[in-house]
Amino acid sequence: MGAILENALLYGKSFLSYGKVADYIPELAKADPSNLGICLMTKEGLMYPVGNWQVPFTMQSIAKTFSLILALQTAGYDKVFSKVGMEPTGDCFDSIVQLETKQLYPFNPMINAGAIVTVSCIECSDPFSEFLQLVKQLCFNDTVRLNEQVYLSEKHTGQRNRSIAYLLLSDHILEGDPEPILDSYFRMCSVEVNTQDLARFSLILANDGKDPVTGKQMVEDWIIRIVKTLMLTCGMYDESGEFAVKAGIPSKSGVGGGIIAAADQGMGIATYGPVLNKKGNSIGGIHMLEYLSRELNLHYFANKTDTAV
Ligand code: DON
Repeated sequence: MGAILENALLYGKSFLSYGKVADYIPELAKADPSNLGICLMTKEGLMYPVGNWQVPFTMQSIAKTFSLILALQTAGYDKVFSKVGMEPTGDCFDSIVQLETKQLYPFNPMINAGAIVTVSCIECSDPFSEFLQLVKQLCFNDTVRLNEQVYLSEKHTGQRNRSIAYLLLSDHILEGDPEPILDSYFRMCSVEVNTQDLARFSLILANDGKDPVTGKQMVEDWIIRIVKTLMLTCGMYDESGEFAVKAGIPSKSGVGGGIIAAADQGMGIATYGPVLNKKGNSIGGIHMLEYLSRELNLHYFANKTDTAV
């Protein structure tokens, strides 16, 4: 396993010159473009880390998986999916045009518009502190915290998300003042983690909500099924179809450079590499996951009687 991961890392590195670090959120531009790492966890509780797996980064859109879990837990299926759909968009993650031209409701909870609505559905007095609590629990790390600089940077430059929220308000999909909803959304995106934290979360996703080591059900399985399905169909934005064909692992990316992958055989994987491709996905991460999928036969629809693809 160690050698396969080292080779995945080398393969991923060979693509880094073809992308660039996100800079539309100024703080994110400070990331070191040479960083690349993976943390893989098996259901037996073994951990395989390689490269820059310990470097902290902000979750960004990976937060959309946690906020969806929290919305489904607190508000339930009917409320959440009366406000946001389940369809891939084929458009970029911060697209606004479909809200005017296709349908008023955001297409799915994995794009910015859908996540803002999902956050608005969370039923509790302090959505961000509940969110942080959930992240700590599912990452098994009590020290996870907000990166204040990234949060402020997002808040000050988030005019596009603000436009989306006010458009949703005018169409009565958001209820109440958009500013606190946006504030929670910006904070959630700015929570700092590393690949070990996210590999633990991916392990829970890969094992239907159960911690395979203790056997404890951490999240109800019906919620995990929804989250993983939307990760497979929408988690990599307008690259979701291609990634599903090539890697076939329910995954979610963030512009901070992270990707979580809930792999077959109950395996949790997280990758980090801040250099992104044109779709906003980590270019090294995508290629490393495609490599691992081939080498470890992780594609959900692979012929499981073959030893390798
Ligand atoms: O709202 C934003 O634009 C960012 N906080 C998150 C976007 C993101 O991570 C898209 N990812 N690939």
